[in-house]
Amino acid sequence: MNNNKKPTIAIVPGSFDPITNGHVFIVKEALKLYDKVILAVMINSEKTYKFSLAERKEIAKSALENMQNVEVISFDGWLYELAQNLKADAIVKGYRNDVDLKYEQQMAKFNQQHAPNTKTVLIKASDDITILSSTLVRERIDKKESLDSFLPNSAINKIEEILTRNNKKCREC
Ligand code: PNS
Repeated sequence: MNNNKKPTIAIVPGSFDPITNGHVFIVKEALKLYDKVILAVMINSEKTYKFSLAERKEIAKSALENMQNVEVISFDGWLYELAQNLKADAIVKGYRNDVDLKYEQQMAKFNQQHAPNTKTVLIKASDDITILSSTLVRERIDKKESLDSFLPNSAINKIEEILTRNNKKCREC
């Protein structure tokens, strides 16, 4: 970290329903470019979620618990508002294919118009993690299949804890 300058900040935003090793890869890449990474668990109004905002934050926190200079927050608002509030230098997002890239470029344009001091950096997911997606992880959870190698063990344990907790609540109601 450069002592003379304010630490640089990158936001890694997303739904993280739940976080995967693909997202962890993007956080690691962002840390190579910026001093601090704030992973922001957010709401995409076009999606319905398996896990609540608080649960998605809990799982992401567990996944990243051993990483330095990473903070996990949740935010229900516009991404450009968060970028302004945090005085973020960058929004870092990953993309897997051309469809992702087109969507992310549109979002980048929109956010740049509202938060001109924050640039968007798009990082291509490496081939071996391109297969990973939250959708796939959710499918495997529903089918009670192993999540090994899809997300860190700490996050798998947290998901199990949350599912047990929710099952218990369901039986009580
Ligand atoms: O993981 P996702 O679902 O691709 O994440 C998308 C997310 C949550 C980053 C995006 O929907 C978002 O920025 N939501 C916050 C509200 C916002 O700024 N919307 C802009 C719509 S153009």
